[in-house]
Amino acid sequence: MNLNVSSTKNEVAKDFANYFAKVCASKPEVHIALSGGSTPKVVFDELAANYQETIDWSKVHLYWGDERCVWPDDDESNYKMTNEHLLSKIKIPELNIHRIKGENGPKYEAAHYSEFLNVVLPKTNALPTFDLVILGIGDDGHTASIFPNQIKLWHSKKYCEVAKHPVSGQKRITITGQIINNAKIVAFLVTGAGKADRISEIIKGEEIAKKYPVSLVKPTDGKVVWYLDEAAAAGITSTQS
Ligand code: 6PG
Repeated sequence: MNLNVSSTKNEVAKDFANYFAKVCASKPEVHIALSGGSTPKVVFDELAANYQETIDWSKVHLYWGDERCVWPDDDESNYKMTNEHLLSKIKIPELNIHRIKGENGPKYEAAHYSEFLNVVLPKTNALPTFDLVILGIGDDGHTASIFPNQIKLWHSKKYCEVAKHPVSGQKRITITGQIINNAKIVAFLVTGAGKADRISEIIKGEEIAKKYPVSLVKPTDGKVVWYLDEAAAAGITSTQS
Protein backbone atom coordinates (compact mmCIF):
# COMPACT_ATOMS: atom_id res chain seq x y z
CA MET A 1 0.00 0.00 0.00
CA ASN A 2 1.26 3.42 -0.92
CA LEU A 3 0.58 5.19 2.36
CA ASN A 4 2.00 8.61 3.18
CA VAL A 5 1.37 9.98 6.64
CA SER A 6 2.42 13.57 7.33
CA SER A 7 2.31 15.33 10.67
CA THR A 8 -0.28 18.00 9.86
CA LYS A 9 -2.70 19.03 7.13
CA ASN A 10 -0.20 21.62 5.87
CA GLU A 11 2.49 18.94 5.68
CA VAL A 12 0.08 16.73 3.72
CA ALA A 13 -0.37 19.64 1.33
CA LYS A 14 3.40 20.00 0.89
CA ASP A 15 3.96 16.29 0.38
CA PHE A 16 1.08 15.85 -2.01
CA ALA A 17 1.95 18.98 -4.01
CA ASN A 18 5.39 17.51 -4.51
CA TYR A 19 3.82 14.26 -5.77
CA PHE A 20 1.41 16.22 -7.99
CA ALA A 21 4.37 18.02 -9.58
CA LYS A 22 6.06 14.68 -10.30
CA VAL A 23 2.91 13.36 -11.98
CA CYS A 24 2.77 16.53 -14.10
CA ALA A 25 6.40 16.12 -15.12
CA SER A 26 5.97 12.48 -16.06
CA LYS A 27 4.25 12.97 -19.43
CA PRO A 28 3.91 15.53 -22.21
CA GLU A 29 0.24 16.09 -21.29
CA VAL A 30 -1.59 15.17 -18.09
CA HIS A 31 -5.29 14.90 -17.33
CA ILE A 32 -6.21 15.39 -13.69
CA ALA A 33 -9.60 15.27 -11.94
CA LEU A 34 -9.77 17.55 -8.91
CA SER A 35 -11.89 17.25 -5.81
CA GLY A 36 -13.66 19.66 -3.52
CA GLY A 37 -13.15 19.59 0.22
CA SER A 38 -10.92 21.13 2.82
CA THR A 39 -7.71 19.22 2.12
CA PRO A 40 -7.53 20.04 -1.60
CA LYS A 41 -7.92 23.70 -0.61
CA VAL A 42 -4.59 23.72 1.23
CA VAL A 43 -2.99 21.66 -1.55
CA PHE A 44 -4.11 24.33 -4.03
CA ASP A 45 -2.64 27.05 -1.78
CA GLU A 46 0.65 25.16 -1.70
CA LEU A 47 0.68 24.66 -5.49
CA ALA A 48 -0.12 28.34 -6.04
CA ALA A 49 2.58 29.47 -3.61
CA ASN A 50 5.42 27.18 -4.61
CA TYR A 51 4.75 25.59 -8.00
CA GLN A 52 3.79 28.50 -10.23
CA GLU A 53 7.02 28.16 -12.18
CA THR A 54 8.14 24.61 -11.48
CA ILE A 55 5.07 22.97 -13.00
CA ASP A 56 4.57 23.54 -16.71
CA TRP A 57 0.86 24.32 -16.42
CA SER A 58 0.44 24.51 -20.18
CA LYS A 59 0.49 20.70 -20.34
CA VAL A 60 -1.84 20.18 -17.40
CA HIS A 61 -5.54 19.64 -18.08
CA LEU A 62 -7.81 20.02 -15.08
CA TYR A 63 -11.24 18.45 -14.67
CA TRP A 64 -13.48 17.83 -11.67
CA GLY A 65 -14.50 14.51 -10.16
CA ASP A 66 -17.59 16.14 -8.75
CA GLU A 67 -19.36 19.47 -8.62
CA ARG A 68 -22.27 20.90 -6.72
CA CYS A 69 -25.20 22.04 -8.91
CA VAL A 70 -24.74 25.72 -8.21
CA TRP A 71 -23.46 28.73 -10.15
CA PRO A 72 -19.68 29.00 -10.47
CA ASP A 73 -19.63 32.09 -8.24
CA ASP A 74 -21.51 30.32 -5.43
CA ASP A 75 -19.51 29.61 -2.27
CA GLU A 76 -20.53 25.95 -2.59
CA SER A 77 -18.93 25.62 -6.03
CA ASN A 78 -15.86 23.41 -6.21
CA TYR A 79 -14.78 25.39 -9.26
CA LYS A 80 -15.00 28.65 -7.30
CA MET A 81 -12.82 27.25 -4.52
CA THR A 82 -10.26 25.98 -7.03
CA ASN A 83 -10.29 29.25 -8.93
CA GLU A 84 -9.71 31.31 -5.81
CA HIS A 85 -6.99 29.10 -4.36
CA LEU A 86 -5.19 27.97 -7.53
CA LEU A 87 -6.39 28.84 -11.01
CA SER A 88 -6.38 32.62 -10.57
CA LYS A 89 -2.78 32.45 -9.33
CA ILE A 90 -1.08 30.28 -11.95
CA LYS A 91 -0.43 30.60 -15.64
CA ILE A 92 -2.70 27.87 -16.92
CA PRO A 93 -4.36 28.31 -20.31
CA GLU A 94 -8.12 28.84 -20.03
CA LEU A 95 -8.54 26.02 -22.54
CA ASN A 96 -6.99 23.56 -20.09
CA ILE A 97 -9.69 24.14 -17.48
CA HIS A 98 -12.60 21.80 -17.99
CA ARG A 99 -15.14 22.56 -15.32
CA ILE A 100 -18.42 20.80 -14.69
CA LYS A 101 -21.07 23.46 -15.27
CA GLY A 102 -23.06 23.29 -12.05
CA GLU A 103 -25.39 26.00 -13.31
CA ASN A 104 -26.76 23.78 -16.10
CA GLY A 105 -29.65 21.36 -15.68
CA PRO A 106 -28.13 18.44 -13.73
CA LYS A 107 -29.21 15.67 -16.13
CA TYR A 108 -28.08 17.64 -19.15
CA GLU A 109 -24.73 18.44 -17.56
CA ALA A 110 -24.10 14.85 -16.43
CA ALA A 111 -24.71 13.64 -19.99
CA HIS A 112 -22.73 16.50 -21.49
CA TYR A 113 -19.70 16.04 -19.23
CA SER A 114 -19.80 12.26 -19.84
CA GLU A 115 -19.64 12.87 -23.58
CA PHE A 116 -16.95 15.50 -23.11
CA LEU A 117 -14.76 13.06 -21.14
CA ASN A 118 -15.41 10.46 -23.81
CA VAL A 119 -14.14 12.79 -26.52
CA VAL A 120 -11.17 14.48 -24.86
CA LEU A 121 -9.56 11.92 -22.58
CA PRO A 122 -7.16 9.26 -23.79
CA LYS A 123 -8.65 5.76 -23.66
CA THR A 124 -7.55 2.56 -22.03
CA ASN A 125 -9.80 -0.48 -21.63
CA ALA A 126 -12.07 1.41 -24.07
CA LEU A 127 -12.80 3.94 -21.32
CA PRO A 128 -11.72 7.55 -20.73
CA THR A 129 -8.59 7.56 -18.58
CA PHE A 130 -7.40 10.16 -16.11
CA ASP A 131 -3.73 10.21 -15.19
CA LEU A 132 -4.71 11.24 -11.68
CA VAL A 133 -8.02 11.41 -9.83
CA ILE A 134 -7.91 13.26 -6.51
CA LEU A 135 -10.52 12.14 -4.01
CA GLY A 136 -11.50 12.84 -0.43
CA ILE A 137 -13.48 10.71 1.98
CA GLY A 138 -16.55 12.01 3.76
CA ASP A 139 -17.32 11.23 7.39
CA ASP A 140 -20.07 8.92 6.06
CA GLY A 141 -17.69 7.05 3.72
CA HIS A 142 -18.67 8.89 0.55
CA THR A 143 -16.19 9.71 -2.13
CA ALA A 144 -16.51 12.09 -5.08
CA SER A 145 -20.29 12.67 -4.70
CA ILE A 146 -21.29 9.04 -4.38
CA PHE A 147 -22.94 8.62 -0.99
CA PRO A 148 -23.64 5.38 0.90
CA ASN A 149 -27.40 5.61 0.27
CA GLN A 150 -26.80 5.94 -3.49
CA ILE A 151 -24.04 3.40 -3.86
CA LYS A 152 -25.68 2.09 -7.01
CA LEU A 153 -24.47 5.20 -8.84
CA TRP A 154 -20.97 3.79 -8.50
CA HIS A 155 -21.92 0.94 -10.84
CA SER A 156 -23.58 3.14 -13.45
CA LYS A 157 -22.80 2.47 -17.09
CA LYS A 158 -22.63 6.25 -17.55
CA TYR A 159 -19.41 8.15 -16.94
CA CYS A 160 -21.18 10.85 -14.88
CA GLU A 161 -24.35 10.79 -12.81
CA VAL A 162 -26.54 13.17 -10.86
CA ALA A 163 -26.24 12.56 -7.12
CA LYS A 164 -28.08 14.09 -4.19
CA HIS A 165 -26.54 15.00 -0.87
CA PRO A 166 -28.39 12.82 1.66
CA VAL A 167 -28.79 15.61 4.22
CA SER A 168 -29.05 18.89 2.32
CA GLY A 169 -30.67 17.42 -0.80
CA GLN A 170 -28.22 19.44 -2.90
CA LYS A 171 -27.81 17.95 -6.37
CA ARG A 172 -24.32 17.20 -7.58
CA ILE A 173 -22.67 15.85 -10.69
CA THR A 174 -20.19 13.06 -10.04
CA ILE A 175 -17.98 10.80 -12.07
CA THR A 176 -18.86 7.14 -11.59
CA GLY A 177 -16.96 4.05 -10.50
CA GLN A 178 -15.88 2.90 -13.92
CA ILE A 179 -14.11 6.21 -14.57
CA ILE A 180 -12.51 6.33 -11.12
CA ASN A 181 -11.31 2.75 -11.40
CA ASN A 182 -9.93 3.33 -14.87
CA ALA A 183 -7.57 6.07 -13.63
CA LYS A 184 -3.84 5.50 -13.61
CA ILE A 185 -3.57 6.95 -10.13
CA VAL A 186 -6.25 7.59 -7.52
CA ALA A 187 -4.98 9.81 -4.70
CA PHE A 188 -6.87 10.07 -1.44
CA LEU A 189 -6.30 13.25 0.54
CA VAL A 190 -7.70 12.82 4.02
CA THR A 191 -7.03 14.87 7.13
CA GLY A 192 -8.49 15.36 10.58
CA ALA A 193 -9.42 13.20 13.54
CA GLY A 194 -13.00 12.97 12.28
CA LYS A 195 -11.82 10.66 9.50
CA ALA A 196 -9.75 8.29 11.68
CA ASP A 197 -12.47 5.65 12.14
CA ARG A 198 -13.35 5.58 8.42
CA ILE A 199 -9.69 5.29 7.44
CA SER A 200 -9.10 2.50 9.90
CA GLU A 201 -12.21 0.56 8.76
CA ILE A 202 -11.33 0.98 5.09
CA ILE A 203 -7.64 0.20 5.30
CA LYS A 204 -8.17 -2.77 7.61
CA GLY A 205 -10.93 -4.02 5.26
CA GLU A 206 -13.54 -4.23 7.99
CA GLU A 207 -17.03 -5.54 7.12
CA ILE A 208 -18.72 -2.18 7.68
CA ALA A 209 -16.49 -0.55 5.07
CA LYS A 210 -18.37 -2.46 2.34
CA LYS A 211 -21.19 0.03 2.85
CA TYR A 212 -18.90 2.90 1.93
CA PRO A 213 -18.60 3.87 -1.74
CA VAL A 214 -14.94 4.59 -1.07
CA SER A 215 -14.27 0.89 -0.52
CA LEU A 216 -15.12 0.28 -4.20
CA VAL A 217 -12.09 2.24 -5.33
CA LYS A 218 -9.90 -0.45 -6.93
CA PRO A 219 -8.20 0.79 -10.07
CA THR A 220 -8.14 -1.88 -12.82
CA ASP A 221 -4.63 -1.12 -14.01
CA GLY A 222 -3.71 1.82 -11.83
CA LYS A 223 -2.77 2.41 -8.22
CA VAL A 224 -4.12 4.08 -5.11
CA VAL A 225 -1.96 6.48 -3.12
CA TRP A 226 -2.94 7.74 0.31
CA TYR A 227 -1.97 11.12 1.76
CA LEU A 228 -3.09 11.36 5.38
CA ASP A 229 -2.24 13.46 8.36
CA GLU A 230 -1.45 11.83 11.69
CA ALA A 231 -4.91 12.60 13.04
CA ALA A 232 -6.65 10.76 10.20
CA ALA A 233 -4.16 7.89 10.39
CA ALA A 234 -4.52 7.48 14.17
CA GLY A 235 -6.36 4.17 13.88
CA ILE A 236 -3.86 2.41 11.64
CA THR A 237 -0.43 1.27 12.60
CA SER A 238 2.65 2.98 11.26
CA THR A 239 4.04 -0.42 10.23
CA GLN A 240 1.69 -0.66 7.24
CA SER A 241 3.55 -0.07 4.00
C1 6PG B 1 -16.99 17.58 -2.29
C2 6PG B 1 -16.12 16.41 -2.40
C3 6PG B 1 -16.19 15.36 -1.33
C4 6PG B 1 -15.03 15.60 -0.38
C5 6PG B 1 -15.20 14.87 0.92
C6 6PG B 1 -14.08 15.14 1.89
O1 6PG B 1 -17.14 18.27 -3.26
O2 6PG B 1 -17.52 17.79 -1.19
O3 6PG B 1 -15.51 16.16 -3.54
O4 6PG B 1 -16.20 14.06 -1.78
O5 6PG B 1 -13.84 15.20 -0.98
O6 6PG B 1 -16.42 15.27 1.49
O7 6PG B 1 -14.01 16.49 2.17
P1 6PG B 1 -12.91 17.11 3.17
O8 6PG B 1 -11.60 17.17 2.45
O9 6PG B 1 -13.46 18.47 3.47
O10 6PG B 1 -12.87 16.22 4.34
